[in-house]
Amino acid sequence: FEPPYPPYDPTDKSGFSYETVLKRWPIILTSIVDQLHRENHDLHQSTQQETDSSRKATLEKKLEESKSIIEQVSKLKYQMARDHVMEPIPEDGEPHAELYNSELDRLAKSAKNTWFTAPWLYAECYLYRLLRSMFIQSTHWHDYDPFAAQKKDVFRKSGNSIYGIAKMMHDLQKEKAAIKNNTENLKVFFLEMIQMCLWGNATDLSLLTHMSVSDIERLQAFEKDAQAARQAFIMRDDQEAAWNQLQASKDGRVDFVLDNSGFELFTDLVFADFLVTCTPYVSKVVFHPKLIPWFVSDVTPPDFTQTISNLSDPAFLESSPSPDQQDHLHELAARLKQHVDNGTFSMSVPLHTPLGGGSDGKGAAFWTTPVPYWDMEAYDRELWESLRQSSLVIFKGDLNYRKLTGDIQWPAWTPFAEALGPLAGSFPLLSLRTNKADVAVGLDKQKVAETEEKDPKWRVNGKFALISFCT
Ligand code: F6P
Ligand code: MG
Repeated sequence: FEPPYPPYDPTDKSGFSYETVLKRWPIILTSIVDQLHRENHDLHQSTQQETDSSRKATLEKKLEESKSIIEQVSKLKYQMARDHVMEPIPEDGEPHAELYNSELDRLAKSAKNTWFTAPWLYAECYLYRLLRSMFIQSTHWHDYDPFAAQKKDVFRKSGNSIYGIAKMMHDLQKEKAAIKNNTENLKVFFLEMIQMCLWGNATDLSLLTHMSVSDIERLQAFEKDAQAARQAFIMRDDQEAAWNQLQASKDGRVDFVLDNSGFELFTDLVFADFLVTCTPYVSKVVFHPKLIPWFVSDVTPPDFTQTISNLSDPAFLESSPSPDQQDHLHELAARLKQHVDNGTFSMSVPLHTPLGGGSDGKGAAFWTTPVPYWDMEAYDRELWESLRQSSLVIFKGDLNYRKLTGDIQWPAWTPFAEALGPLAGSFPLLSLRTNKADVAVGLDKQKVAETEEKDPKWRVNGKFALISFCT
């Protein structure tokens, strides 16, 4: 599909893409170097204490490899800042090297194969695939996720919001028999769930480069007043249409194309729990993770299983809960685990799939390509066919939105279905996204002008959101 406008790229110095290449990516690369330095510090101490010579040699080799990865990441940072040509992804045994490299060749023909000229969406996907190649080519860091510690730390700090939501679910479970057959009540809860799940997307660690943890805590707040106040920031609101779609199904399947791990994943799981326990419409939920560390905080298969077990561990969250709070979370975590154990919840890949996907990764490989979703059918027909079995496919977050719309410079009042290209009509889809990149479609022209006036950064500062549905 050839859209009628060009994609966003950093040649426009007023766009968020330019700021990202100039400032945000260097910070993310530095955080990887810092993380490896911390690992090395511990490794160095273990090496010194080790008395067995073969184990000592292994530790030394591991340390050496980590130093080499630090060098590679530092070199990448240097080359990025100087707008060097983006080098081919090595043949490292993981999927997509060829796909990324043939696109690089194509970009080279129009001299758009450097960090400050390449289309933003492509370059950012390429960045995470390139980082992965540095780890996969080592022996001891093969399965290492350089963002895992950061994901876990922020998740541990989300206790207040998590206990709040667990209480709400506890109350809801008590009333579920009464609400299950009362469509009006169900609808009220459904709309609240959508909002919780939407604002859960504010917890994106690649944005922590310019947002503080307390900013994020404010965005996570789930209380009714906080939700109502945020309604004004939803610039497109297709909640009703999504509700009508869902109501048409019985014992159907919902798919979540996941975004971030930690708090956002928790809200996705809670929404899914609500759908299968409180409504007659859904009996199965499929979650689609990323196979490699991706855009800092995205969910990988190990993150998914880890999150379920973290929630069941009373010592995991940093806050000190009351006995009631602890019970509510315990109850919710047990139910989530049960959904996973009995197959009501599943991932698109087997539960214990390692980073990279191993031999089971096929079902998720598409999500770490740079391919816009309008080419999903051509690129991964099996996935596309499988999503056509779903009653509703929920695309979480900003990156999914960029891929749904191709990260194209559409006028903001382009109809959503038009920006989806040939994907429109393939299956019912709902995108829940807080705005963290320039692309936005499906908006009212007048509303765009007013918002522009009120807050010129509305497209990128994470304070505004879009709920976009296409049948
Ligand atoms: O840095 C680019 C970007 O895609 C931004 O658009 C966004 O801030 C982030 O990465 C990903 O956001 P999300 O986790 O919501 O997909
Ligand atoms: Mg993300």
